[in-house]
Formats: sequence, structure tokens, C-alpha cells
Amino acid sequence: MSKILTTESGAPIADNQNSASAGEYGPLLIQDQQLLEKLARFNRERIPERVVHARGSGAYGYFEVTDEVSQFTRANFLASVGKRTEVFLRFSTVAGNLGASDAVRDPRGFALKFYTEEGNYDLVGNNTPVFFIKDPIKFPDFIHSQKRDPYTGVQEADNVWDFWAHSPASTHQITWLFGDRGIPASYRHMNGYGSHTYQWVNESGDAFWVKYHFKTNQGVRSLDGGQAAEVVGADADSHQRDLHQAIERGVFPSWTLYVQLMPVAEAADYRFNPFDLTKVWPHADYPLQKVGRLVLNKNPENVFAEVEQSAFSPNNFVPGIGPSPDKMLQGRLFAYADAQRYRLGVNHTLLAVNAPKATEANNYGRDGLSAVNKSGRGKNYEPNSYDGPAQTDAALAAPVALNGHTGTYTTPAHTKDDDFFQAGELFRLMSAGEQERLIGNLAGFLAQVSRDDIIEKNLAHFHAADENYGSRLEAAVAKLRAGQES
Ligand code: HEM
Repeated sequence: MSKILTTESGAPIADNQNSASAGEYGPLLIQDQQLLEKLARFNRERIPERVVHARGSGAYGYFEVTDEVSQFTRANFLASVGKRTEVFLRFSTVAGNLGASDAVRDPRGFALKFYTEEGNYDLVGNNTPVFFIKDPIKFPDFIHSQKRDPYTGVQEADNVWDFWAHSPASTHQITWLFGDRGIPASYRHMNGYGSHTYQWVNESGDAFWVKYHFKTNQGVRSLDGGQAAEVVGADADSHQRDLHQAIERGVFPSWTLYVQLMPVAEAADYRFNPFDLTKVWPHADYPLQKVGRLVLNKNPENVFAEVEQSAFSPNNFVPGIGPSPDKMLQGRLFAYADAQRYRLGVNHTLLAVNAPKATEANNYGRDGLSAVNKSGRGKNYEPNSYDGPAQTDAALAAPVALNGHTGTYTTPAHTKDDDFFQAGELFRLMSAGEQERLIGNLAGFLAQVSRDDIIEKNLAHFHAADENYGSRLEAAVAKLRAGQES
């Protein structure tokens, strides 16, 4: 027998089809608790969407260690071959709002929560190994320029390219984004990257700088602009549908995790600043080492509760893993939990998807909006004489050596660091066909810019990356603009 329908306080409801009225024709009665509660609750269903990465899809699964890495990190979940840890992964697009289409040219988020026995470890990455900027103070400006203009209410090519005109370091990521991998066919068919450099530290205290690469076992598949437009027209939710249906069918997507490891002593003299997020470490310098397998095998039961309310923060580390001095990462260590306190409230870590699963959170954080009484009558101060939770005295990560004075600095450049070398390398790596498509994609967008000076500044960046790249793009833009005028 089905359960009885009740109000939110549990009282039985007699009629859920008709409002209570004064006589058959109405008006309605303010004493109709079911009507008032239902309408009021409905008005409060929406919460603020994420300020970026609003549109996303999530799934549960596990991570299994396949190769020994305990010589590099004392993270317990990576301690031995065969060890499995439950995970939750949320994929996303960046610029679109909650209802935006999936199949667009935009980086994809790859946010992974490992529910380890030593607490939750969040690795909040993208499907691109680099990013547009290298100082977090530019992030709000960057995102403003990519989203809707405050006056016209639509994305403006002028704003997008004006920001990039003032941000030469973006040339590498722009080359990536407008290339063949810029529109993934689905979330299953793309790689994930931690992007930043992080720190691993082993039992003896030896530290390494590490970069994470999750390679899709489904193979990389992408769409070109025309295919993507068709997909968007037919199904705005194509990535969500694909991921959900694959898991429902039992076709579980998986990724192989590799890392690049740099002994700490090598960082200072490496030809690229290893903490500059606009640069990669070429594999010839630091080869990929296999770590394990990530498998997604379970859909969330409820998208709002588990995907919309999921919260990832790059400052959720576990023993054996820590931040690097990458300025972008440092900014992110603040931004995420702050966003979540606004978006979900101070008690969001108590929600099932965000709470630890393989251990429990024990601390003296208390009360706040929608607190549940998780600490019972336990003392709410520390230290105490009542056997309350106590500190371990063991730092999670290794200390990082410093030098210099406080001040505002540009990100230091190493011998091979300029804003263009790696963009040029990426261009030169591409096949003739891919170069042609890249130039077509870029020209199509850049030619929409209304101001010559913005176009010229941007073209100068591509010339600096590779003369062939710059001159071909310049010709393609000129041709399109001539067409617009005629
Ligand atoms: C300083 C630069 C950045 C700032 C200030 C920033 C800030 C934010 C904020 C506020 C959110 C929303 C969080 C929430 O409401 O839960 C977010 C989401 C996200 N960001 Fe960033 N971000 C930055 C750079 C990056 C970079 C470099 C990456 C990837 C390497 C990245 C990946 C993501 C992902 C994947 C999400 C969505 C997480 C989820 O699925 O819930 N962000 N970012």
C-alpha cells in the first residue's frame, strides 16, 4: 500500500487536487495549509547557481590504485595497489548558466571528490592542462568579459577579445580551445587535468611537485562547430543525457590517471615556471607515470540534492598532498568554500554528497543556518578536559621555502617563459587539417569584433606565437571582414 500524503509537518492531506474555497465558486481560504505550504515551498525551490560552471552533470564511482606511488606520497588512498576509494565527479561547462546547452565551445570542468579514510580530497580541474590567466586577481575581469554584457545582455565578441588583447598569456589556452578538442562530443570522451601543480610528500618528508592527467579510456571524441550547432539544436542537454544513459546501460566510463612528478629541487632552474598555470611541462621533460583507474558506475538518485548541492574546494587536501605556490591555485583556495557558504550555506559540508563517507568530520564548528545536532552535547570549545577531538601535530604537506619581500609582482619568468612559446609549440604540433580548422574557428569569432585596435592587438599575439599562425589568421580575418563589408 502506498504511503499517506502528508503536509511537511506530517499531517495527512485529504485533497491534493482542489484548493479549499468559501463555497463552490471561491474565493479561497487562508486556512488551506496544503495550498499555502505548496505554493510557498515552490517559490523557494531555486538557489543561486554557481557563478561559473553552473551547468553540470555528476556521477559516483571509484578510484583504484594500479601502480605503486607510495614512494612519492603518503596519501593513504594511494598507499597500495588495489586500494579503492569512492568518488563523486561533477563535469561542467564554464560560461553558460544553469539551463545553457552542453555542446558548446568552452572548457569543461572535471571536479573530483575522493571520499578517503583521511577526509575528502577535492581535485577541481578542467579538461584543459592550462588556463587563460596566471593571477587570480584577474579572474572576475576574465569571467565578466566572457559572459553577458551588462548593457546588451548577450555575450559580446568585443568584450571576449578585448580581455584577451590585454592578456597575452591567454594565447596558449585560446589555441587549445579553438582547436579540435574545444567541443567534446560528451563528458565521457574527454581527458581531465588537475591543471595546477600540487605538492606530494612521502613518509620520509621528501616533497615532489605533481601534475594530474586523467586520460579517457573511451577515446577522445570532439565535435566541430557545425556538428555542435546541430547537437545543440536537437538536444540542449546532450552531455547530461549521454552520461546518465551510459551509466544506466551499465557502460561505465573510465579514465586512467597519470602523474608528472618533479623533484622539488628542480623547480627553480626548470625552463618553465612550474607554478605558471598557462604552461605545461612537456612530457619529454617529465614523463607520465601511471597511478590508477577512475570508474563512474552510479547515477545520483536526485540531481538537485547531489549535483546542484555538491561542493568542491581546491583547499580540501588530505595528508601527503598539498598546494603549490601557483598564484591561481592560491586564489582558488579561498574562492570555492566562500562561494559555497553563499550558495549553499555554512552547513553545506553536512549534506550527504559533501560529507566524508569513509571517516567522520569531528570539530568545534557549530550552529549556523540549518544546523543538525551532529555534535550532541559534546563540548563546543577546544582544548577541553572531556575527551573532545584533538589536533594531530602532523602537517598535511611539507613546508615550502620562501624568499623575497611582500609586494605585487608579475609571475616570475624562467628561461623559456614568454606568453607565446608554448602556444606556438601547440600550433606546430597540429596536423595541417587541424591548423586549418583552428584558424577557421578563430577567424570566425575574431572577425565579429567591431574595433580594429582590438583585432590588431590579438593578431600580434598569434604572430608572436608562430609567424605562420599569425599571418594565416590575419589573412582569414581580413577575408571575412571584407565579406562583411561587401
Ligand atoms: C583564480 C581563479 C579561479 C577562481 C577565483 C575560480 C572560482 C570558482 C568559483 C567561485 C566556482 C563556483 C564554486 C561553487 O559555487 O561551488 C568555481 C567553479 C569551478 N571551477 Fe573555478 N575558479 C578559478 C579557476 C579555475 C581553474 C584554473 C579551474 C580548473 C583547472 C577551475 C575549475 C572549476 C570547476 C571544475 C568548477 C565547478 C566545480 C563543481 O563542479 O562544482 N576554476 N570556480
